[in-house]
Amino acid sequence: PVIAVVFGGRSSEHVISCATAGSVLQAIDRDVYDVVPVGIATDGRWVLPDADPEKLRIVSATELPSVAGDATPVALTPGDGSARLTSSPAGEPPQVLGNVDVVFPLLHGPWGEDGTLQGMLEMAGVRYVGAGVLASAVSMDKAYMKVVLNQAGLPTMPSVVVTAREWRIDEEGARAKVAELGYPVFVKPARAGSSMGISKVHDAAELEAAILEAQQHDPKVLVEGFAGGAREIECGVLGTLDGGAQTSVPAEIRIGGDHEFYDFAAKYLPEESTQLDVPADLPADVVARVQELSVGVFEAVGCEGLARVDFFLMPDGSLVVNEINTMPGFTPTSMYPRMWAASGVAYPELVERLISLALA
Ligand code: DAL
Ligand code: MG
Repeated sequence: PVIAVVFGGRSSEHVISCATAGSVLQAIDRDVYDVVPVGIATDGRWVLPDADPEKLRIVSATELPSVAGDATPVALTPGDGSARLTSSPAGEPPQVLGNVDVVFPLLHGPWGEDGTLQGMLEMAGVRYVGAGVLASAVSMDKAYMKVVLNQAGLPTMPSVVVTAREWRIDEEGARAKVAELGYPVFVKPARAGSSMGISKVHDAAELEAAILEAQQHDPKVLVEGFAGGAREIECGVLGTLDGGAQTSVPAEIRIGGDHEFYDFAAKYLPEESTQLDVPADLPADVVARVQELSVGVFEAVGCEGLARVDFFLMPDGSLVVNEINTMPGFTPTSMYPRMWAASGVAYPELVERLISLALA
């Protein structure tokens, strides 16, 4: 079969996607699949790098720290100059998608993880790995995600939405709404990932700067109550051939240093003192609840293929869903593959199972 691996993308998580793709492209069994790498540049141009792994040069996971701090995401570059680059006009998918059996969209954030690419593939009648249009869209928008999860009886942190218009015409009203949550609060772009644009706000004086920062990523901003004293637990979900879902062992993120939360630097810069416990040190009954809730979240949004579900384990022992990611970070050192490796599914097998699910 021919598999197109789509990576990069227009979102602020472009670089993370390149690193993810670098790992997945190496893991796909080239004896079984013909691989067509398809890059999307930050300006939306579609680029066809050379499929030859020797010539294909994209950001590898180990390179990520050196580029992650860059304001300008790296472009998709052929390494030695011998790679063939062809591009179609801005935003237009290349004809190549008509000749593939399955697409592996390794895109994080808007224009890729949010149902837009998925919709284009549905229109074109091309099979693809992972969540469909609705599940992708709902999971990308933290406000709608909460509506769907709460309706299914799944607990989330209390929050309010502040639109750009609301902030402009009724800042006082917006401030009052936020104050009701009780400071500190988290201010997040509704549709972004990798903690981009997220701030912890300690009091009303810090609110404006945080809203403006979040608005850099999305005019729609979510302000969320703070889960004080909570532990951060994550769990991997993998679709099964019979339409069900299985879960990995959960893992825990322990934030160190001067990070007040699991921010971008704590996530991607290795010298940071964040500790990842895979598996998490949790009593069996908590593990069982995390896994059960993870399947509940996966099913509530109608997810397919894969997802990472993130939780807060509150000081009173209750679990609150933070969010679901339908295309979680996927380098070998990312949480999702590590949780599966600790559950007996090694990285190449995980990639193979996701492709097989899409082709089934
Ligand atoms: N959005 C990042 C890639 C994650 O969820 O892992
Ligand atoms: Mg996310």
